[in-house]
Amino acid sequence: MALLEILHFPDPRLRVKAQPITQIDDEVRRIVEDMYETMYASNGVGLAATQVGIHRQIFVMDVSETHNQRYCVFNPEILAKEGVQLDNEGCLSVTGVYDKVERAAKVRMRGMNLDGKLFELEGEGLMAACIQHETDHLNGILFIDHLSRLKQERIRKKIEKDKRR
Ligand code: NI
Repeated sequence: MALLEILHFPDPRLRVKAQPITQIDDEVRRIVEDMYETMYASNGVGLAATQVGIHRQIFVMDVSETHNQRYCVFNPEILAKEGVQLDNEGCLSVTGVYDKVERAAKVRMRGMNLDGKLFELEGEGLMAACIQHETDHLNGILFIDHLSRLKQERIRKKIEKDKRR
C-alpha cells in the first residue's frame, strides 16, 4: 500500500470528469487500497479518485469514528434526493476552508462494489453529504462551487496568499 498525493485547488486536474470503471482488476483494487490508506491518514471521511489525479469513477468513504464502515463505490449515480441540510463542509483538496453547503438531507444512490455487483445505498446526514460531495468530485465539481461568487473569490485570494508564504 502507498499514500497517494492529494491534489489541491486550483489544480486543473480537479476539474477533469472521471471515466466509468468497466473492469475491476488488480490495478483498480490497488488504487482502492491506496485511497483508503490516504483517506484515513488525512482524517478524511471520503476521497474521490479525482483528488489523487486518477480520472476514474471511484470513491471511498467511511463516516464512522471507529474507521470500520468502509464503502468503496464505482460509477456512483444519485437516484433520489430528499430534504435539505446546511452543514459545514471541508475538503482534503481545499486546505483550511470550511463553509456551510446546502445539500439534500437524504439520498439514495446506486453504484458498483469491489465484487463488480450493483448495489444501492441510502444515506442521511453526514453520509448523504459525503455521497454528494464525492460524486461531485468525479464530475469535476468542488464544494466551494456551491458557495456564493463573493465567497469563492475570497477563498481563491486566501489560497493564493497562503501559497506565497
Ligand atoms: Ni472533497
